Amino acid sequence: MKVLVIGGDGFCGWPTSLHLSSLGHDVIIIDNFSRRRIDEDLNVQSLTPICELSERVDTWFELTGRVIRFVELDIAENYDEFADLIKNEAPDSVVHFAEQRAAPYSMKNATTKNYTISNNICGTHNILNAIVESTLDIHLVHLGTMGVYGYGHEEPIPIPEGYLDIKIDTTDGREISDSIVYPPNPGSIYHMTKTMDAQMFQYYAKNDRLRITDLHQGIVWGTQTNLTSMDDRLINRFDYDGDYGTVLNRFLMQATVGVPLTVHGTGGQTRAFIHISDTCQCIAQALSHPPVSGARPMILNQMAETQTLADLAKQVQSMTDCKISYLPNPRNEAERNDLNVRNDLLRSFGWEPTLIKDCLLTEITEITERYRDRIDTEKIPCVSCWTERQELAETTS
Ligand SMILES: NC(=O)c1ccc[n+]([C@@H]2O[C@H](COP(=O)([O-])OP(=O)(O)OC[C@H]3O[C@@H](n4cnc5c(N)ncnc54)[C@H](O)[C@@H]3O)[C@@H](O)[C@H]2O)c1
Repeated sequence: MKVLVIGGDGFCGWPTSLHLSSLGHDVIIIDNFSRRRIDEDLNVQSLTPICELSERVDTWFELTGRVIRFVELDIAENYDEFADLIKNEAPDSVVHFAEQRAAPYSMKNATTKNYTISNNICGTHNILNAIVESTLDIHLVHLGTMGVYGYGHEEPIPIPEGYLDIKIDTTDGREISDSIVYPPNPGSIYHMTKTMDAQMFQYYAKNDRLRITDLHQGIVWGTQTNLTSMDDRLINRFDYDGDYGTVLNRFLMQATVGVPLTVHGTGGQTRAFIHISDTCQCIAQALSHPPVSGARPMILNQMAETQTLADLAKQVQSMTDCKISYLPNPRNEAERNDLNVRNDLLRSFGWEPTLIKDCLLTEITEITERYRDRIDTEKIPCVSCWTERQELAETTS
């Protein structure tokens, strides 16, 4: 099939583009390179030396004979150009990665809050609008986040795949069953944009019968897939800075340079994780199993396992012998939570998850140790604070 990968130069988008191309799909990447520019603005860089997209796709062609085309375009700012591209290319599917994806960056200041809202909401709406305008039957696969469910439950309540079965008492004394979108509970401006995306998907699936799959993805860890490791010029990015570095990456960096792992708060926060290779596989599965036109959006929980941050730190400690220090939490979040996630649908497509305990050592030896000369330790701490009203943060967390 012909697939547009929007945001295909990013951390998840690049290995997914290679994976889809290797499966024989005709892949076209669209990206505005905003992620690379944000690195420059923040004065940070990927730990791994990533090549320009033109060199990446040339290398892929050199190694495999497969062509990946790319178009530089801001889909949030240039609706007409994007709508023309959709009409002219007439893709079977669109994979949408193109959002500002860091919660700490979205909470940094008024400018980054505004940027996250306008980029993510306008970008998603432009895609939906352009698909409708094209009159083509295009399947949209969007990368959402597990964070839309919120992390507020202390009880082991199962998180369903997007929809919650409920019973309602009618005014004439009967009890009826229904299934509603799981109540969103975003914990940052970034997460809020994902819950707003989800609302737009409900509307467009209902009103325009668009076929939409929303993947509620856990925190992606790992750097390389079997395809990005074919050649150094294909290497994937590894973010470790306080804004874009996810928790496991920052632990690995701290362990590599021999400073204590910084756990914010008690470490009792439970989060969902998935390896980058599994991200690619799950997206390919989602593309092969689209919902029918007229159905509500298909929601899949794209995550392999859950861990508390304290347990994660202990796993890294057991492999590296580092120390752990507990710091005040800049986030406005519960100190501990349960996270009991159903992922039956993706598992039913035949996906076997990769677990952190099986691959963590490879990540240390092949990535953080190998590129340790590029580490800037000053960039690791997270400085974004969720609320200036610290008293409020203390009473609600
Ligand atoms: N990385 C994770 O742990 C994770 C977890 C859950 C969900 N997700 C979601 O997956 C998606 C991809 O995440 P990622 O880690 O690859 O992020 P990333 O920042 O590495 O990649 C996003 C890409 O989209 C591009 N982009 C952003 N806005 C654009 C626009 N308006 N027009 C064109 N291109 C644009 C960027 O330049 C970048 O290359 C995001 O939507 C994110 O919310 C990521």
